[in-house]
Amino acid sequence: MYIVDSKTMHRLDEQLIKQQRVSSLDLMKRAASGVKDYIDEHHTKLVRILIVCGVGNNGGDGFALASLLKEDGYVNVTLFTLANENQLTSDARFYALRCAQLNIPCFHQLHELEGLLKNSEQCVDALFGTGLSRGIHGDYAQVIHQINASKLPCISIDMPSGIHSDTGACMGCAIHADVTISFACYKQGQLLGEGRRYCGHLKIVDIGIPHEMIAKEEHAILLTEDKTRQLLPKRFEQSHKGSYGKVLAIGGSRSMHGAITLCAKAMLRSGVGTLTLFVPKSIGMLLAMKLEECMLIEADDENGMFAQGALSLLKEKIGDYDLIVIGNGMGRTKASEALVAYVLQQDTPCILDADALWSCAKYRELIKRRQAPLIVTPHPKEFSYLTSKSTAEIKADPFKAVREFTSCYPNVTLVYKDYVSIIATDKKCYVNCIGNNALAKGGSGDVLCGIISGLYAQSKQAIEAAGAGVYVHAKCADELLQVKMQTVFYQVISSLPYPRYIKLY
Ligand code: ACO
Repeated sequence: MYIVDSKTMHRLDEQLIKQQRVSSLDLMKRAASGVKDYIDEHHTKLVRILIVCGVGNNGGDGFALASLLKEDGYVNVTLFTLANENQLTSDARFYALRCAQLNIPCFHQLHELEGLLKNSEQCVDALFGTGLSRGIHGDYAQVIHQINASKLPCISIDMPSGIHSDTGACMGCAIHADVTISFACYKQGQLLGEGRRYCGHLKIVDIGIPHEMIAKEEHAILLTEDKTRQLLPKRFEQSHKGSYGKVLAIGGSRSMHGAITLCAKAMLRSGVGTLTLFVPKSIGMLLAMKLEECMLIEADDENGMFAQGALSLLKEKIGDYDLIVIGNGMGRTKASEALVAYVLQQDTPCILDADALWSCAKYRELIKRRQAPLIVTPHPKEFSYLTSKSTAEIKADPFKAVREFTSCYPNVTLVYKDYVSIIATDKKCYVNCIGNNALAKGGSGDVLCGIISGLYAQSKQAIEAAGAGVYVHAKCADELLQVKMQTVFYQVISSLPYPRYIKLY
């Protein structure tokens, strides 16, 4: 399922109108029919329904809906709009006039709204869609507050009015919809920020925009179980450990040995062929006891962290790995920074996580010059190191921040980890919306890094491994929550081609 911003959606509407010779009035009618289908499913024709319309084409969808309902025999359809006829767009005016011809009562005064809401069983919000461009004040704010206060079940057309369709920000106040019926694609704002909560149940209706047309535009793809299955590496009957990748993981310290342990366990359980750990000497024995499958390289140590001498050992041992993972529990020292810089200069594919992201803020030019695949996995704070944007700026419009970053670093696969995670290169973008707050704890990121590394080691495909890794990680958390198990080894997804076990808690 595609995710687009408002500009793209607008272009798609226009293309459909031009290329497929669909009139804008017909398009509006298709959108209204999608909403009517939902009403048909849930109500009888006696339902008292109030449709609240704005001045733009979202209001037009509302007027078109009212006319369709009335024509189909719904007897209690009422309209409310603050706008007069001259303020409406021409398409909205067309359907408003059609409603007048059908004798659908239409009210305009704010003081009438409370009574109308009391007298209704279902409200439809057609105030603002993707055209909402500024904060909501005055009478429109009153309308929204009254609809919310009425506690009537409310269907929002396209967007809950008041939610910005690109960022999901609440622009002062917004409709708390029970259901939002949107068209052709998800809008970014339905998944981000406040948007997800205000949408209620979100339903996407086909209005005849061909998939190929959407695919040609800038879009993101929502990760689903089916989509993830396509991204997972294949396992073969006749295979051996060499078939599934040779990984070197650099990290760990005395105070954070758990980070590299979790990462390594997740990697092993996600199917990596062989794994070697490059760690400070003082935690070598501890890790050897916990991670029987791993090989170990013990580096010079100072106070439980890598010492300067670790770099020369790394140069000696770097070998012919398929992937280097660096950062988990490594700490932030000059010696660890030097390891990151050295790894970035190698031709080996690489994943930077945790403390390595802090270090690499200094090495942006190295990252730009790199040709070999690189995956970075920042949460908003770490992303701020990489972009020089504040976390507030990033969180206000994460898609924008992600696009700016990937266009600057075309060889990098970005895994932006948040409530909604965005996995992107300059060419592809996946979005994960599943998972839950059980993942909001130290160590979750290390497990995710391990899963992505394990998948990459097998497929050698960066964005595919990153997208699938994020989804599988979140799916584990959802499944765990469902079965209410807090401390278990849990099957990732029983239907994966190679069931493995992830320890999340
Ligand atoms: N306070 C008061 N008024 C506001 C505010 C605010 N905070 N913000 C915006 N407005 C007003 C403005 O007057 C604005 O019009 P302007 O752009 O002339 O300034 C108007 O609200 C915009 O409201 P919308 O109805 O949300 O915007 P638009 O007319 O672009 O329609 C659309 C949005 C196309 C319906 C979109 O939500 C959508 O894609 N819907 C699904 C598909 C569909 O219905 N297509 C049929 C439409 S055909 C077509 O548009 C070509």
